[in-house]
Amino acid sequence: MRLLSVRLIVSLIIGITLVSLGFSYYQVVGEKRVLRSDLERRAEVLGESVAGNVEKSWESGSERGLQRLVQRFGNREHLLGVAVYDKQGRQVAITTELGQVLKAMPPEVAHAIADRHGENSFFRVGNNPVHIFALPLHRQDEIIGGLAVVHDATYIRAQSLLTWREAFLRMLVQVFLIAFITVLIVRWSITGPIAQAAQWMRALRMGRISSRQQMPDLELFKPLAWEVVTLAESLSQARTAAENEARLREASESRWTADRLAIQLQARLDGGRLFVVSNREPYMHRHNGKSLEVIVPPSGLVTALEPVLNACDGTWIAHGSGAADAEVVDAQDRLRVPPDDPRYTLRRVWLTKEEEEGYYYGFANEGLWPLCHIAHTRPIFRAQDWAHYQEVNRKFTAAVLEEIKDIHNPVVLVQDYHFALMPRMIKEKRPDARVAIFWHIPWPNPEAFGICPWQRQLVDGLLGADLIGFHIQSHCNNFLQTVDRVVESRVDWEHFSVSRQNHRTIVHPFPISVDLTDDETVDNERYGANYVDRSALLHEIAVDAPFVGVGVDRVDYTKGIQERFQAVERFLEKYPKYRQQFTFVQIGAPSRTHIKRYHDLMAELEAEAERINWRFQTSKWKPIVFLNRQHNHEEIERYYRAADLCMVTSLHDGMNLVAKEFLAARRDERGVLILSQFTGAARELRDALLVNPYDIDQTAEAIRVALEMEPEEKQMRVHRMRRIIKEQNIYRWAGSLITELCELRLDAMDPAQQKIRGSVAAA
Ligand code: G6P
Repeated sequence: MRLLSVRLIVSLIIGITLVSLGFSYYQVVGEKRVLRSDLERRAEVLGESVAGNVEKSWESGSERGLQRLVQRFGNREHLLGVAVYDKQGRQVAITTELGQVLKAMPPEVAHAIADRHGENSFFRVGNNPVHIFALPLHRQDEIIGGLAVVHDATYIRAQSLLTWREAFLRMLVQVFLIAFITVLIVRWSITGPIAQAAQWMRALRMGRISSRQQMPDLELFKPLAWEVVTLAESLSQARTAAENEARLREASESRWTADRLAIQLQARLDGGRLFVVSNREPYMHRHNGKSLEVIVPPSGLVTALEPVLNACDGTWIAHGSGAADAEVVDAQDRLRVPPDDPRYTLRRVWLTKEEEEGYYYGFANEGLWPLCHIAHTRPIFRAQDWAHYQEVNRKFTAAVLEEIKDIHNPVVLVQDYHFALMPRMIKEKRPDARVAIFWHIPWPNPEAFGICPWQRQLVDGLLGADLIGFHIQSHCNNFLQTVDRVVESRVDWEHFSVSRQNHRTIVHPFPISVDLTDDETVDNERYGANYVDRSALLHEIAVDAPFVGVGVDRVDYTKGIQERFQAVERFLEKYPKYRQQFTFVQIGAPSRTHIKRYHDLMAELEAEAERINWRFQTSKWKPIVFLNRQHNHEEIERYYRAADLCMVTSLHDGMNLVAKEFLAARRDERGVLILSQFTGAARELRDALLVNPYDIDQTAEAIRVALEMEPEEKQMRVHRMRRIIKEQNIYRWAGSLITELCELRLDAMDPAQQKIRGSVAAA
């Protein structure tokens, strides 16, 4: 750094000196020219006036008179003197001082007499520069002699020297100032931040600090610093993963981590690649004033799949539903995400308004959603919605086929009830692709499913897959029973598979989960290592109560939010001592609001919360706070960590990841989970307080039990449930699903099987 400062300073000094010298030179030359012409002009004026007088005196013929006359003119500034000569060059009169310097007539006077006009000239007398103006003297038209006016020109040289001295001083001051400023800038903006950065990087490397919050302000090195943070994070994750792996190997455990999944996928995919298809995309772009903002839509499916894609750099194909989505994709409608740390590809598929209306709002969410959830909202089946559903399944299939065009043995994971027809559509074109569909919502019993006019086509579409996944065994059983009733096929109850038209489909449960690991650093980064200031959080929402409950849902009629509010009401009714003591905060993300039932539900919930609040509230307290807007993960995390209890009271739910997210956030092993027995999660989380959400009294009682539970018991329950989630985390879900899919023997690729089928067909 010192070398840089020296180089900078030396270069600046040379530059400044050259420029200053150049300017000073021109200034001196200019000044000299002005002074000289000024002197010439003055000499000429004086010469003319002396000549006039001399010519008059010459008339009288007295040399003494002439001598007196020239002597009179001799006292002017810088004037050395005046001399008068006759035509022959004889000196007629001369001022005393000039007489000591000029011994003979200067040649300039002779030239003036010969040329009959005045002449200017500079010359040296000894070492001193002098100026002479010589002019002829007349009597009428005749030349009678010459006159010399001689000035001392040393002052011009003195003035030039003065100018050079000033320029030099100015240069010196400039050089000093610039060198000083350079040193300061280098110190402040380069040396200082670099020293700080080095210190900070050392701390990062040694693991003394871990988060981006502790990054010092590195001014112009900021972009570099962000890269370093990302690098350090990757390094620290790699280090912890390696440590974990070693520890797990030591304990011969088999816990799933992101790294293990990545390695497992590389091995299983064997050069192939992973493609995930879902309706909902993980990131939506929308306008916010003049800039673009990215939002993560509220969806359990999105929460679960993101870590899987992050781990294996696959491609996620989804509906581009954000208003600004099209502005950020490339020519192939792709972009790399997550926006902060791109790790996989998102391919967006565009739908027209009519397609979205019929396929998404219509058939998927007014038909299949209520059909599969036993929540007493009647499904609506419209023929035009069904037509759009088929069309959009074809559209997404085309996008998938395009993505896997040049890929050998691709693995495709189709997600959810939006794409029941897609597995068959893909397999028809690419029998070599391994296709699985995961059904994230429940599958009802065959009687319930039987009311769907297109049940046969849906089941047939699904059976195109090599593997169908549900969250729990009972959904698999319901599906297999439905298959048995609806299509001609052979159901193998021993292996849970279906054979139909020379194709076998395995139907297995894979309970989905969240990204909970053993790794404290990852946990701290994800859930924030800092203590959640509960009173600050409650202050933000104007709540003043010692006990707080939380619920987090999309506003959906399957979530039992109304029943939850009523349970809070019943609890306060039965146990008045908890009035002004307990507040329930419901975070409700608006969802599918174009559908009337969802639109009405929002109003119903607001009215219900209002009614209950009106009944119990005081000036400082109310029982229910309904926050009906979308919250991001960090915001929700704060509520999870501040709450005494979390309520999940779905009337029917495939899994419900809120229950698992709440437990994942509770590293302090506190808090109680009240969980509906109708969720998939209830099969695993037996230490939750399980309730039937339709039984309002029972849920009210669960609230009391939760609030009065001994801290040791709470801790024991949360500890056991967290252990289960760590075991059954999202990496195990993805790992088992993909491993099973990759281990299947595809009918299309088994030559022996093909031969047997060929000869049977010929016979
Ligand atoms: C459920 C579904 C998901 C869906 C999510 C959010 O969890 O299983 O497929 O993404 O709800 O619903 P939305 O309609 O907003 O995507």
